[in-house]
Amino acid sequence: MSTASSRPILLLAIVFATLAAQGSDVWSAETPTAATPAAATAPPSPYPPPVPGPYVRPEWAFLTTSAQQPAAEDPNARVTVPGSKLTHTNAEVGNFFAAVDWHPERHAPMPEVVAKGRKPDVYACAVCHLTSGMGHPESSHLAGQSVQYMMQQMADFKSGARKDPARMTRIGTATTEEEARAAAEWFAAIKPIRWMKVVETDKVPRNYGNGGRMRLPWPGKETEPLGKRIVELPQDTARAVARDPYSGFVAYVPKGSVARGKALVKNGTDGAATACVLCHGPKLQGTADVPGIAGTSAIYAARQLYNFQVGDRAGPQSALMKAVVAKMTEDDIIAVTAYLATLDP
Ligand code: HEC
Ligand code: HEC
Repeated sequence: MSTASSRPILLLAIVFATLAAQGSDVWSAETPTAATPAAATAPPSPYPPPVPGPYVRPEWAFLTTSAQQPAAEDPNARVTVPGSKLTHTNAEVGNFFAAVDWHPERHAPMPEVVAKGRKPDVYACAVCHLTSGMGHPESSHLAGQSVQYMMQQMADFKSGARKDPARMTRIGTATTEEEARAAAEWFAAIKPIRWMKVVETDKVPRNYGNGGRMRLPWPGKETEPLGKRIVELPQDTARAVARDPYSGFVAYVPKGSVARGKALVKNGTDGAATACVLCHGPKLQGTADVPGIAGTSAIYAARQLYNFQVGDRAGPQSALMKAVVAKMTEDDIIAVTAYLATLDP
């Protein structure tokens, strides 16, 4: 083994050891990018094999860790984000039981479960959903969703009616009702912020899925064809990797998606009864028990539409989405979620 390649591997070994000590499932840990291993082969996808029938779970929406990773960064290097006086090591940013809190003055005090979680399976909610509640494309936004809606989702993860084998099945199963309520009340009180920019294009920066399944640009200036998918990359990679709660994402979508999506959202995907405003509110920002879908990650929203289709999201409220997704093609899902990402949350 050459010295050039053994160094990153050594660093990775350190990161793995640190994460293992924190009790995390290393291969899919939402670690800081760069502290992610240069694995030779891709770790197994957390998702079940393809479903028979017309519906699919495309990889662009069900994010995975890529086999090829750029060189790892030092887990002990200190990072910061604009406007914060704090610094943290990469390893601290990746700690599942102590969410980095870059701007404690900008939010109400976090309940224990949001800030620290509870070992071994309840990871601190703010690690992935961020202290702004806006989350990353591989997780989800919670800011401003109703307590009732979030409590239903936690119950559905627990019962198995809603499946997320990557993360929330395990976390939701271990979370008590009291913890879920404390977290839901805290996230519900946060005002969601503008998080997405949408760019219609036919090529994107070359990109890969890091150890936490977030897609990041490959170092350098290479591009790759977009094709029939959505790719979401950070507006600022270093900030997103440091879990900066105020640094959003760019959704690269195929040309023509936004106008096509706008028409589907307005007129419905299967007749007027499926027009989104009927249930999601006049600005699609949600109601007491229906979630807001405006301004969210297009990839997160697309993943949910596929989940409704394949039956991996089948809680008591999901029946209302059945007719909406029944006839949606991959092109429709791309168009609708691209348009939703252009709206104010
Ligand atoms: C390790 C990362 C991670 C942590 C920590 C985490 N989540 Fe999640 N969460 C996710 C992912 C990934 C999803 C998206 C699941 C999917 O795609 O269906 C999600 C989705 C959710 C949803 C559904 C949102 C919606 O709009 O339907 C809720 C509610 C939620 N999480 C609550 C929590 C709570 C409460 C905690 C803390 C106890 C928590 N999460 C901790 C990764 C995480
Ligand atoms: C008849 C009522 C109804 C209509 C019409 C409807 N929805 Fe929904 N939608 C719901 C409900 C209820 C949920 C929550 C389901 C659950 O609890 O699992 C939901 C959930 C969703 C979610 C998941 C959000 C999240 O945070 O996880 C997305 C995305 C979505 N809808 C998109 C759409 C789009 C796009 C349209 C229009 C083309 C639409 N919906 C039309 C009732 C509706």
